[in-house]
Amino acid sequence: MNFSLPDIFVPDRTANIVILTGAGISKESGIDTFRDPDGIWSKVRVEDVATPEAFARDPERVHGFYNMRRRRVQTMNIAPNAAHDALARLERGWPGAVLVVTQNVDSLHESAGSANVLHMHGRHSEARCNHCGHVVPWQGDMSTADVCANCGRAGGLRPNVVWFGETPFFMDEIQRALAECDLFLSIGTSGNVYPAAGFVAMLRRLGRAHTVELNLEPSAGAGLFLESHYGPATGVVPRYVERLLAAA
Ligand code: APR
Repeated sequence: MNFSLPDIFVPDRTANIVILTGAGISKESGIDTFRDPDGIWSKVRVEDVATPEAFARDPERVHGFYNMRRRRVQTMNIAPNAAHDALARLERGWPGAVLVVTQNVDSLHESAGSANVLHMHGRHSEARCNHCGHVVPWQGDMSTADVCANCGRAGGLRPNVVWFGETPFFMDEIQRALAECDLFLSIGTSGNVYPAAGFVAMLRRLGRAHTVELNLEPSAGAGLFLESHYGPATGVVPRYVERLLAAA
């Protein structure tokens, strides 16, 4: 397939770039999205596995869901794809600041070589203790029998991810970066979950940044972007990044 892009807007080479990513960027690495027809939320209910209430009611069920997702990434040879690679190249090659704000709990941006990444919905490769707040890297399965290495209590460890009803991480840093952003890219996200879904509207109000959507299809907020290119991330994102870097 030929993903030739029409003209793209190229900002000044010192422009600050903020890139919001969602599940769509990892789809071609073999990780399911949430809201596509075969997505995760077509198979399990949010209320059963992704809320603090679900964890309080049935922690083993919630652990089972995240254990399965963590195990899949660790055992299925899941690797970054051409879109993750392109964003890492952009960070290395662009003279201005480049920040990835991801809603994804996988670590594929880091595996591709991106260094400036904020996981606003956390990471499933970390555990957090509900008793003392201590966060540790976590490989393998997690259960209610696991003991916190910091406070020594069992039963409090949970995946360090943000569930529905909880506040995303790094919001102060993200708000600061958005306020200084000149180019905003939204990649592989359906625009259904706030606060991330509201970033583009906020940027329109601030009136400083050029906003671009790169997605398989128009998202819920598609009309708010000043520029958009549609197609699979592994086609559209490398092509877009090539064009930006060629002008840098
Ligand atoms: N390339 C680019 N985009 C794709 C691809 C692909 N190969 N495949 C799917 N997409 C797009 C879909 O068209 C959709 O717009 O990716 C988007 C995925 O949307 P969601 O499944 O809603 O994922 P996301 O927006 O990341 O969800 C946000 O919801 O449940 C929560 O916490 C979860 O972080 C997640 C949040």
